[in-house]
Amino acid sequence: MPEIRKICVVGVGYIGLPTCVVLARAGFEVCGADINERIIASLNDGIVPIDEPGLQAEFDAAQERLRFTKDPEAADAFYICVSTPLDTSGAEPKAKLDYVFSAAAAISKVLQKGNLVILESTSPPGTTRRVAEILAEGSGLQRDEFHTVHCPERVIPGRMLTELRENDRLIGAQDEIGAEMAKSIYDRVLTKGSVKITDDVTAETAKIAENAFRDVNIAFANELSVICQGLGIDVFQVVELANCHPRVNIHSPGVGVGGHCIPVVPWFLCQLFPGQTPLMHASRAVNDAKPGWIADRIGEILAPPAEICVLGMTYKPDVDDLRDSAAVAFAQLLDKRGYHVTVCEPNVKQEEIFGFRNLSLDEALKTGFVVVALAHREFRENRARIAAVPHYDPVGLLRGL
Ligand SMILES: NC(=O)c1ccc[n+]([C@@H]2O[C@H](COP(=O)([O-])OP(=O)(O)OC[C@H]3O[C@@H](n4cnc5c(N)ncnc54)[C@H](O)[C@@H]3O)[C@@H](O)[C@H]2O)c1
Repeated sequence: MPEIRKICVVGVGYIGLPTCVVLARAGFEVCGADINERIIASLNDGIVPIDEPGLQAEFDAAQERLRFTKDPEAADAFYICVSTPLDTSGAEPKAKLDYVFSAAAAISKVLQKGNLVILESTSPPGTTRRVAEILAEGSGLQRDEFHTVHCPERVIPGRMLTELRENDRLIGAQDEIGAEMAKSIYDRVLTKGSVKITDDVTAETAKIAENAFRDVNIAFANELSVICQGLGIDVFQVVELANCHPRVNIHSPGVGVGGHCIPVVPWFLCQLFPGQTPLMHASRAVNDAKPGWIADRIGEILAPPAEICVLGMTYKPDVDDLRDSAAVAFAQLLDKRGYHVTVCEPNVKQEEIFGFRNLSLDEALKTGFVVVALAHREFRENRARIAAVPHYDPVGLLRGL
């Protein structure tokens, strides 16, 4: 098996950058490549452009084995960590794989015999095989002269560095040498988690199944919240009591489902089997309808143009990431319905977020009415103060007060 000394990570965003850092800290020589020249310039100036606990310190400590460039460099192994967003131009959403395919084309220019290419980006089943074809076409190598595997990423923002080292890893390989090469890398990075080897399509499907399971489970919780409101009972108590059953684990209801994984990835399976995924379709619809349902409930107690401050705008608690956030969709909906909307997002240091004035919590509590969209730490620490003003609490932050 070829020895791996140098690794080139293509795409150094939320996943690729922490990956570069843990690889360098594990002793590999690492080159991070990204088409975004601003990111490369910032990294070459020694500044980590994302907010992730511990990342800047570990980046500083890994300096001597880390470098950043626009184009991929020759290496023993490559990681593809580019985004895989949704293409919403058709009748139904599907994966937009352009970034993955252009990353593969860029790698093919420097690919050499015996190299390993790891696709980490979340991708529909069959994508790793398409990546292998692009690599062969662009490099002129035979398909059996290099190795491709899919190793899906399952880390959670806020705990990236810990989870990159402690989560179990799936290696979806197309051949035994590729599997062994990938395992030799993860064995050096992992301090706790173990490596599970399977084929590429199974690994691709397993990663999507993880996200789709959570989407379906949250949709069930959100549907329960509608039922409990009708019954005049507390949905959070219902979930808590149901979860006392040893084989039940209902997730928590909220303002909807956000982020770039859970609401996006189920479509990567739906797109392959039109008409055969009614459960995943229904879950998407239930979760997407939740901001509107909450806005309807608020409409029953408060008429526009009243001022409403939305507490929390990120896609989940205690992160600074606003991408695909259900709280943002909710605030925009209130605005569309004629309310005077402000927001309070302590994790994003901007005066305005999507055109909404970003208030401090003290200012927010003077606005007249607040909606708790996320249970951020600052809100958890100020529950009594929030409960003392007129509010709507779809996330159960103020329960028991
Ligand atoms: N962020 C998460 O929490 C998370 C968790 C699990 C899995 N994932 C998956 O990991 C993948 C990466 O997600 P992310 O959040 O890091 O995305 P991101 O948008 O933060 O980073 C992607 C980076 O790739 C760069 N890029 C795009 N095309 C390129 C190309 N051809 N060559 C070089 N660079 C290119 C972009 O400029 C960007 O900096 C996605 O498939 C995502 O679904 C993300």
